[in-house]
Amino acid sequence: MPFEYADRIKRLPPYLFAEMEKIIKEKKGQGFDLISLSIGDPDLPPPPFIIDALKQEAADLKNHNYSFSQGEPDFRQAVLEWYKNRFNVDLQQDQVIALLGSKEGIANIARAFVNPGDDVLVPDPAYPVYTNGSTILCDGKAVPMPLLEENSFKPNLDAIDVKKVKMMFLNYPNNPTAATVDKKFLKEAVDFAKDNNIILCYDNAYSEVTFDGYSAPSILEIDGALDVAIEFHSLSKTFNMTGDRIGFAVGNKTLVCGLTKVKSQIDSGPPVYTQKVAVKALKSYNSREPPEFLSKNNQNLKERRDLLVDTLCKIGYKCDKPKATFYVWLNCKGDSMQFATKLLNAGVAVTPGVGFGKYGESYVRITFTQPKERIAEACERIASAF
Ligand SMILES: Cc1ncc(COP(=O)(O)O)c(C=O)c1O
Repeated sequence: MPFEYADRIKRLPPYLFAEMEKIIKEKKGQGFDLISLSIGDPDLPPPPFIIDALKQEAADLKNHNYSFSQGEPDFRQAVLEWYKNRFNVDLQQDQVIALLGSKEGIANIARAFVNPGDDVLVPDPAYPVYTNGSTILCDGKAVPMPLLEENSFKPNLDAIDVKKVKMMFLNYPNNPTAATVDKKFLKEAVDFAKDNNIILCYDNAYSEVTFDGYSAPSILEIDGALDVAIEFHSLSKTFNMTGDRIGFAVGNKTLVCGLTKVKSQIDSGPPVYTQKVAVKALKSYNSREPPEFLSKNNQNLKERRDLLVDTLCKIGYKCDKPKATFYVWLNCKGDSMQFATKLLNAGVAVTPGVGFGKYGESYVRITFTQPKERIAEACERIASAF
């Protein structure tokens, strides 16, 4: 029987990478050793204390019942303490919610606040969930905010028509451009949201993946942010726990409450044992300094970043060393799909920028989630492709 998809599913954009996936499949079928620098999933494992905690908490039979939709009280308490420690921001328990990874919260927040036809401001290029999983699946209208290199990949807030805007997404440290921002820009964003009665969803999933002494701010450090903002965090990238699905959102009480209402009808919070592991992970920040595991992890990523960027510069590409994330956003000065296909044929998979939005065209995203030897080999292959 021909079942028809709902209109909102039909409105999801077409999958752009079919041709590239065909080449990947063919190459793998021929036993070709393809180097993937395309996936935003750390190759490094979680630290041993997380694995030990997972074993211990999963073995505790008390940890297998339903959790609360808003998360366990001790998890929320650990988040509050982490916020105070890390950002010097004071929050209450009812300003925190546990998430099955930040992606889930980013998708569900629109369900609580966006009505059909409402405008939602989304960066372009961007992590696709703001447009697809969040806005389109709620029958909202995604309005792109171009992130241009000449504006340091920040949106021009003065150029926005705010009449029908209900919500906006911002994400720094940014995927895919790896751009970072200072508190001055965050203040402008909070003022813009307040002046225009816009819900500000701030995705801070990469706040802990930083280099060269850069420390990513929280939007909640800005005066007035608690009136309009909710911030999404994740243990995925900080502790290499992408598959464990644990994150949280913090901020304005009404926004947290709306998200809780949606989640209480959809899921019952992350598993209790995962939340207990996350408590131990967050408590490993016992001072303003990052824990030893994180410093080592970031040092490892930094060495990979330096190798990748230095080699790209040597072979004639101009690109800066990102201060955060594990992405290099390379201006390939042309058709990003063609450029990526050329690299694929040379044995390196990268992501064409156009996959992140119209304004991602003429860039590719190169991920340094591979060991240094593989990155060095990938660079040789890239050099030989031109
Ligand atoms: C910008 C950004 N936000 C959120 C996420 C979602 O992460 P998670 O759901 O694992 O917390 C990702 C994952 O790649 C991301 O790149």
